[in-house]
Amino acid sequence: MGKFDTEDKIEQVRKEWQNADFQEVHRLAREKVLRNLRELNGFYIVKTGHGFVRFVEERMKTPESICGKLERKGYDMDFETAVEELNDISGVRCICHSVKEIYWIARQIGKDDRFEVLKVKDYVRKPKKNGYESYHIIMNVPVKRGKKEEAVRVELQLRTLIMDAWASMDNRICYKKGETVPPQVQRQIEKYAKIGRHLDKLIER
Ligand code: GTP
Ligand code: MG
Repeated sequence: MGKFDTEDKIEQVRKEWQNADFQEVHRLAREKVLRNLRELNGFYIVKTGHGFVRFVEERMKTPESICGKLERKGYDMDFETAVEELNDISGVRCICHSVKEIYWIARQIGKDDRFEVLKVKDYVRKPKKNGYESYHIIMNVPVKRGKKEEAVRVELQLRTLIMDAWASMDNRICYKKGETVPPQVQRQIEKYAKIGRHLDKLIER
């Protein structure tokens, strides 16, 4: 596809993405997930004497990033397809202290019938080939607006601080940059992931 076609399509997606209702419904869904994490953190403090939250982040995927992902996955580049196919238009990330906490949070969310868990990707138990670790929960979050209730998909990523440090380094150097990263750099990055896993094990103890 030509560069100008792509730019047109991004602008087309942006128009619908900017819609105030769409933005608001997604904002409310992420807020609900954040509120839930804070509540769980409170329970965890009562249970263990300390909270699991180091910090939380949330974001709405940009039209550029939405279109880039649709293209990589071979989908049509339009708004309807994005809403249908992408799980991470709304994303929340919770950075914890330890691996144990990640599984505790995941269990609580699994038990909570306010959220419908659609998919779980456990890259902690089974890291990606490049070394990426994180626990992803794709869920439907019910959002009430006036009399209407709708389900909004949110991707929640649970990570330790060390997993997050690795992922942010990887993001700057490799992720989505295709073949331009020299193999020796890729090997270094895999090695750092192993060191990170070792550190997380030490922290666990
Ligand atoms: P994309 O990887 O985004 O195309 O989505 P996917 O449907 O393949 O899901 P996956 O679980 O692989 O990735 C979802 C999200 O996890 C990404 O958008 C990133 O935020 C993060 N992620 C996945 N793999 C990597 C990785 O190798 N490095 C980094 N830094 N982040 C990753
Ligand atoms: Mg991926």
